[in-house]
Amino acid sequence: MVNKLEQLKKEAIKKIKDIKDLDALQILEKKYLGRKGELTAILRGIANLNIDDKKKIGSLSNEIKNEIKENFLKIKNIIESKGTDDSFIDVSLPGPIMARGHIHPLSKMIDDLDDLFSKMGFMVLDGPELESDYYNFSALNIPADHPARDMQDTFYIDYKNQANRQTKKINTEQKKDAFDMVMRTHTSPMQVRAMQKYGAPLRCVVPGRVFRNEATDATHDTTFDQLEGLMIGENISLANLSAVLKEVLKRLFDEELEVRIRPGYFPFVEPGLEFDVACTICKGAKCPACKHTGWLEMIGAGMVHPEVLKYGGIDPDKYSGFAFGIGLTRLAMMKHKIDDIRLFNSGDMKFLEQF
Ligand code: DAH
Repeated sequence: MVNKLEQLKKEAIKKIKDIKDLDALQILEKKYLGRKGELTAILRGIANLNIDDKKKIGSLSNEIKNEIKENFLKIKNIIESKGTDDSFIDVSLPGPIMARGHIHPLSKMIDDLDDLFSKMGFMVLDGPELESDYYNFSALNIPADHPARDMQDTFYIDYKNQANRQTKKINTEQKKDAFDMVMRTHTSPMQVRAMQKYGAPLRCVVPGRVFRNEATDATHDTTFDQLEGLMIGENISLANLSAVLKEVLKRLFDEELEVRIRPGYFPFVEPGLEFDVACTICKGAKCPACKHTGWLEMIGAGMVHPEVLKYGGIDPDKYSGFAFGIGLTRLAMMKHKIDDIRLFNSGDMKFLEQF
């Protein structure tokens, strides 16, 4: 009888292992453990045994019954959880590779400059990308009919029609102002906003996106980044401007940059200057990135025009100041030796993954 039981156990466990679906499992369960099943039939025979055998065979058959039951349960669980049982996971397989993000080269440039200027006592400010004509031009000494407006081809926003559509009660004066909204063509509008808000003395930088209606090429894009700088105080001079910019460029680039300073015209400074940086891509050999000149116009700067100080509510007889606008995108081109400005906003992963 013992043999019979052991034989039955072996056979049952082997068959259970091969079962793939619940229906087949149920049939097998009935075959062994059901009321008319094989094990039950053996157990019935126990009644005819003597007391000692009854005990021995009784406990053995109970053990076997439990063991078979356990095996049924285990396979049932596996089938029900569709094979996600732990014992089916190959822990030696390598895990999925997680793609890592990258800091965009422009964001990195802005972070570095924010850091450098903060250490020199400049506040870092943020300004609106949709700007009024007043701050973008008029308050910077560029009146509506002035030819200097042609220097920056502008995206005007049809704000009047939108305002008309959205607000019925809008007076004529508001209508006039409402029309005068532009995508800011430079970060300079923040000069007057900062002066009006903080007064003098003042030290601030303003990184941000600017927009122009450009025909794009290797050095021009419709959307690019600038960093505006402004320092106002008593006896501020061009020497301070030159010292600050040279220090920042030196710390930003690990290599020493060759810089050329020449006169430049911007209506909001007097005198106005341009800082050009020797092209790091062709090292002066002339390439499309430097428009075949060996130099890149990188920074516009100068002493803040007295009219602009007045727009900012600052007394030009008491205070003077310098301002500069750095072409951040061009600076990033020079730092990383990138020969086409359009790559920055292209979203091209092959380009971005290099940083
Ligand atoms: N806003 C000028 C531009 O985008 C750059 C500039 C020139 C900024 C002279 C300044 C400045 O602050 O003083 O072309």
